[in-house]
Amino acid sequence: MIVLGIESTCDETGCAVVRAGRDILSNVVSSQVDLHEPFGGVVPELASRRHMEVILPVVESALEQSGKTLEQVDLFAVAQGPGLIGALLVGIHVAKTLSMALEKPLVGVNHIEAHLYAAMMSQPEPLRFPCLGVVISGGHTALVVVEKVGSYRLLGQTVDDAIGESFDKVAKVLGLPYPGGPAVEKLAREGDAFRYPIKAGRVKEKPFSFSFSGVKTAVLYTAKGAGASGESPLLLSDQERKDLAASFQRVVFEDLSAKALRAAEQFSCQSILLGGGVSNNRYLRELFQKARSTIPVLWPSGALSLDNAAMIAGLGYHRYLLQGCGDGLDLEPLTRIPW
Ligand code: KG4
Ligand code: ZN
Repeated sequence: MIVLGIESTCDETGCAVVRAGRDILSNVVSSQVDLHEPFGGVVPELASRRHMEVILPVVESALEQSGKTLEQVDLFAVAQGPGLIGALLVGIHVAKTLSMALEKPLVGVNHIEAHLYAAMMSQPEPLRFPCLGVVISGGHTALVVVEKVGSYRLLGQTVDDAIGESFDKVAKVLGLPYPGGPAVEKLAREGDAFRYPIKAGRVKEKPFSFSFSGVKTAVLYTAKGAGASGESPLLLSDQERKDLAASFQRVVFEDLSAKALRAAEQFSCQSILLGGGVSNNRYLRELFQKARSTIPVLWPSGALSLDNAAMIAGLGYHRYLLQGCGDGLDLEPLTRIPW
């Protein structure tokens, strides 16, 4: 089965052609980072307009690179949410139009579930279940037990900021460009990760939940003085800035990895799967390596860790098989999707 997937939840326009849920024939992503960088974050209206401009060329180039024609596509899969409403609408309308014109089924896919599937489709061997799923993206932070593809049990999530969001906010405080994650990681490489005694947040009676807002405020006050606002001047030397970036990164990732390893043990998971843009971080990968987990820790391959359409097409294949049919043309974008 040849699936054409479309991704337009936020600031990346993607189209991919994937055979039978794992064989990636093409995976084209057009990033909008240049567009949003001057604003220090994603501007929803600009994002929708850019999706409109580039989506058809992106679909055409994904088809061309795959060596397939539209007529050879068996199923259209599209990211239904969560995401920005205007951005989602662009991808969904294109997918519906293609499905209608070619009389082929259409299926809507959860973007966050697809981030976990990205790690699954990156493995050469079939997985043994259950797995512990660790979702770490710009908008989500969650630990879930993956019973099988399509079947999840939420153990905990963030009660305030998502982990990627906290990287982006800390980057702003430290005067770094958007997107903040890669910039903080780079700055932290030359820093002393133990210089600042920042503590991770605890969530009462929820051992697998996260709280990052306290860490973010601690970074702000360390960088700009107690009670400072985002606009206050930075009071740190270059080396202190590096040390603060490194300390922040260590604290949030130690919290994340400790909870993930504990949850995996408690729920007898056979492996740990990571997904979402933050999984791109090298320091996090090293931290898991150092922890010498007794079960495999599995990561999405490079092209599948940031937003992309291959994970949408891959998961769309399974969603279609699980449902036994496609979704109707009344498929609506969902800005939020609970687990
Ligand atoms: O999964 P993603 O591409 O989009 C969402 O679905 O949200 O994740 C984007 C997030 C951003 O917050 C970005 O700063 C973060 O992932 N990110 C990173 C790194 N690369 C991207 N965070 C930490 N370290 C990185 N290397
Ligand atoms: Zn994403």
